[in-house]
Amino acid sequence: MSILHTSGQKKTQQERFEKIRTHILPDSTQACTQLAAEVADLIRSRQAEGRPVVLGLATGSTPVPFYRELIRLHQTEGLSFSNVTTFNLDEYYGLDRDHPESYHRFMRDQLFDHIDIPDHQINIPDGTVPIDAVYDSCMAYESRIQAAGGIDLQILGIGRTGHIGFNEPGSSRDSVTRMITLDRVTRQDAAADFLGVQNVPRSAITMGVGTILGARQIVLMAWGDNKAEIVRTAVEGVQTDQVSASFLQSHPQSTFLIDTAAASSLTRRHQPWLVGSVPWDDVMAKRAIAWVAQKLRKPILKLIDEEYNENGLAELLISTGRSYQLNIRVFNHLQRTITGWPGGKPDADDTHRPERAHPYPKTVLVLSPEPQDAFLGMGGTLERLVSQGHHVLLVCQTSGNLRVADVAAQKFASVLLEMAEAQEDSGWKDKLHYAQFILNEIEAKGQFGSDPEMVRKLKGLILRGEARDAAKEVGIPAQNLQFLDMPFYEKGRYRRFHLEETDILHIQTLLEKFHPHQIYATGHVADPSSVQGLCFQAFEAARKASATSSWCEDCRIWLYRGREKPMECHEIDMAVPMSPDQLDQKFEAMRKFQSTNEDEHSFISQNKGNANAYDALGMAEYEGIETFQRMP
Ligand code: GLP
Repeated sequence: MSILHTSGQKKTQQERFEKIRTHILPDSTQACTQLAAEVADLIRSRQAEGRPVVLGLATGSTPVPFYRELIRLHQTEGLSFSNVTTFNLDEYYGLDRDHPESYHRFMRDQLFDHIDIPDHQINIPDGTVPIDAVYDSCMAYESRIQAAGGIDLQILGIGRTGHIGFNEPGSSRDSVTRMITLDRVTRQDAAADFLGVQNVPRSAITMGVGTILGARQIVLMAWGDNKAEIVRTAVEGVQTDQVSASFLQSHPQSTFLIDTAAASSLTRRHQPWLVGSVPWDDVMAKRAIAWVAQKLRKPILKLIDEEYNENGLAELLISTGRSYQLNIRVFNHLQRTITGWPGGKPDADDTHRPERAHPYPKTVLVLSPEPQDAFLGMGGTLERLVSQGHHVLLVCQTSGNLRVADVAAQKFASVLLEMAEAQEDSGWKDKLHYAQFILNEIEAKGQFGSDPEMVRKLKGLILRGEARDAAKEVGIPAQNLQFLDMPFYEKGRYRRFHLEETDILHIQTLLEKFHPHQIYATGHVADPSSVQGLCFQAFEAARKASATSSWCEDCRIWLYRGREKPMECHEIDMAVPMSPDQLDQKFEAMRKFQSTNEDEHSFISQNKGNANAYDALGMAEYEGIETFQRMP
């Protein structure tokens, strides 16, 4: 189905809650390949007519695979951008154009430097004009759009506040290009790029909602589970200035292009029984009943026939019998996900347990994209696995050095410098030079400059030390902690990573060496260009390459979540409960990561949230729960 040519496409019954045309593709690569091909057709057909094309462009991680595909089309298929004029949505206020996080720099790095678009056809709001000239500069931007004949196709991402461009909550439908104050959530989301939320600019220049709606056609892209809720709100909710993307409902030619994870909260995916017939297997029944129970705030065992009927589950009731039997079936199903034995309980009947009893002990491989991830996603489970006698190997896939603040590296170098200066012994000379070198490098790069290799290395070492301390807290000895330092990370920067063959080989070697019985991995529903998303893709590719190895047959893969949206009850195949003491211990482990700005509280509250959700469904009440999904 075409993305750009939507007129004449009728809404299906499945889409009846959706007020914006929405295309769901399996992943961002497929979505971007299709969109780029259609944009290329548009550019070429205009070239044939001797006419220009005006594109509105976005920044952020979301459009990166689209830009990469455009570059590929230019480099390998000769697509020319000579007739293309571009207008970018926004720019941080106060950042120099060469600042590594400015959108000017971003667009050059991600697209413009690699295609043949003439410089004078590129337009990006100017974030460097003095404050009293901002208004005129914004009005001039609007005029330039008009003078170019308006925007033919506007590409958008969406922020977690529902913003398009930087139109934060409160932006009116008619707003034009202007200066705005960034929302707290938006600044937090940009914190990793800027090495700490305190460094994220407080304001920005953005095209208005009205400017965006002036485009003849609009495509909003979104990937990953973290966008699922806001996508649903924008597509199915009411139009409101609290979610500027919801105004796209009023544009006849606007389309959402999203991946499966970002679509997961849409009614057609989340409550499919409300938009058509579904196969009522165990999983679907569990999903529907947990949903009704949560909606009515009732424990599962108290649901009655009428409540099934009143909530669109009449068909389920007819196909299965009375609510009484159904309730018990789903209750038992959920009950059996709970286990204090994530590695399997040796010598116990494991017919209904999430993990098999044998072999015992198991070789368990835990993959942590950044060193903190495994602790925040499954710190309590790590402790259980170790204390229950399994051989646990914790592998940090990347060094995580981009998260380490300059001040941590400075602190280390200053102490070393002082120590070295105090020594008469000439053997300390090298250390003195090293410390001075690090301090100079940090000073020279400035607050936002890219870290030179030596600085990144030191930051990585600092994080290694913290990871060792955290591992000790959950019982993992230093020799069972490995650091892979995957090359894509060491060479890249947030939102600009490229996965390579060597990254996959690193993981493959690991799998072939350890022949694990259990693997814990994360990143399956993350933004595909995030560190977690890329680490998962590398794992997936490595696993596929090892698929014929005999150890694979006896290996179960458990998916955990850290930074993404918590799992919903129906997604959980294993729930590992935690006592107050165990939760405290996890908190202590997280606190070891002092050089990063990790908020250990939010992850603890996620574990408590999981426990509350189970409690509300009528399960036992725990202090916290860590959740896992079994990979098919
Ligand atoms: C920023 C940009 C938006 C972008 C949003 C989402 O706020 N101004 O244009 O859509 O981030 O970013 P990402 O694509 O990285 O999730």
